[in-house]
Amino acid sequence: MAFDRIFVLGAGAIGSAFGALLSRKFDVTLFGNKQHVETVKLHGLELSGDVDGVFYPEAELEINSLPPNTLLIVTTKVHRTFAALNSIKHLMHNELTILLLQNGLGNKEIARKAVGDKPNILRGITSAAAEFFQPGKVRFWFGKTLIENGFRSNEIAEMFNSCGLKTEISKDIKTEIWRKLVVNCVINPLTAIFCVKNFEIASDELKSVRHAIVDECLKVAEAEGVHLSKDLAEMIDSVLGNYTNYSSMCQDVMKGKPTEIDFINGKVVELGRKHGIPTPINQVLVNFIKFIESHGHEFCRKN
Ligand code: PAF
Repeated sequence: MAFDRIFVLGAGAIGSAFGALLSRKFDVTLFGNKQHVETVKLHGLELSGDVDGVFYPEAELEINSLPPNTLLIVTTKVHRTFAALNSIKHLMHNELTILLLQNGLGNKEIARKAVGDKPNILRGITSAAAEFFQPGKVRFWFGKTLIENGFRSNEIAEMFNSCGLKTEISKDIKTEIWRKLVVNCVINPLTAIFCVKNFEIASDELKSVRHAIVDECLKVAEAEGVHLSKDLAEMIDSVLGNYTNYSSMCQDVMKGKPTEIDFINGKVVELGRKHGIPTPINQVLVNFIKFIESHGHEFCRKN
């Protein structure tokens, strides 16, 4: 049995793209910022990139009710999770499923604290990429989505797949979250610092930096009981060239917005400290991004 409706909370780049594609078959409402919501209501949502077309999901500013049998997909920035979910805590019930489709580590714990015991919460990750520089317009690149194996995960995967969003259930979501975290630890800060598209950091000059980041992450993951493949750095090198988008962190920096650094490299530093594992390269990246955040978007003048 499919969900009766899908709500997307935090409909920025990735949330709007998933919502648009899911609206091909399902009743979807996007919840996002005012300008975006108004544009989508008036003109629909225009996707470009791997998909070209205009889609017509519903769009609203606020969630006022959560009817039974709703799938709530959370695509807010990870640092917005608690506030966004806590503000609708009073609407929660046990016929609600929440899918956290975000970057970062520790998201489910944050969501559980925000909403309490009632809803079913599932974690997902995606290698799809999206850019959002103008209300109502998103550029999208397909990727694979993994959802933790849990109550109603199969239904979500079927719904996603039926709309062209390649999705699988993962029996070991913890390892997958870490693998994605390491990818983000390499791509996101480097692209944001240099203000370049993902593929541009594949350059040979940055190889030793990329590998040093991964090396620290692998040691911390191991201490956390997560065994990632030793050739992850080479794997990342080999896929980087395929990403012709600006990473989400680079987009945040371009827009002068806070980034997810505390939940990406910052988490590796925090856990490294807990286990007595030095993480100097990740620490430097955190410091660079914090410096950029405190200076607004003067660093990145491309937009
Ligand atoms: O944060 C991002 O931008 C994305 O997670 C990814 C997959 C690195 C693509 O840019």
